[in-house]
Amino acid sequence: MVDSNFQILYSKDRIQERVEALAGEISDYYQHCNEPVVAVCVLKGAFIFFADLFRKLRVQPEIDFVRLASYGEKTYRDEKVVCEKDLEVSIKGKHVLVVEDIVDTGCTIDYFTRHLRERGPISVKVCALVQKRERSEIDVALNFSGFYLERGFVVGYGLDYAEKYRHLEDIWTMPE
Ligand code: IMP
Repeated sequence: MVDSNFQILYSKDRIQERVEALAGEISDYYQHCNEPVVAVCVLKGAFIFFADLFRKLRVQPEIDFVRLASYGEKTYRDEKVVCEKDLEVSIKGKHVLVVEDIVDTGCTIDYFTRHLRERGPISVKVCALVQKRERSEIDVALNFSGFYLERGFVVGYGLDYAEKYRHLEDIWTMPE
């Protein structure tokens, strides 16, 4: 399954506890909104988190999916972030909740939220499963965060390394 030098960082039970708590926070936040809410899953890494979170919400947002790709070194804001699959629904006059796997430098989410705001949503909020602190370049205001990670590269629960390990139920750290 994984190499012997991988270590479990967040067990599947701990992940489910955090997802449940996040779903509660998100539901509390949106339950009194009169306008529609759209939850946007950032592919591919967030797909399992998104599905688990969505099923625990007490509000029923519309859903949509985007695919963002970044090329080369992400050292300067959005220069190398490309939207490879865009939204299919209109977000004008709606609340948008972006669901992302990991915020690392912050470049991807910074690019994407600015791109969304040009389309006339009422609000754009971001939920990330993992917020890294190590390489943070852009001060991204995350509204809902599952875990804070000081350093390291993690896989499992949808997160990959070269398209491997997404199927793992726990989140593991890879050796550096
Ligand atoms: P950012 O633009 O630097 O914030 O990049 C965030 C993206 O990098 C995430 O959506 C992931 O696709 C990827 N990423 C960053 N760190 C990790 C990790 O530890 N494991 C898996 N993917 C990661």
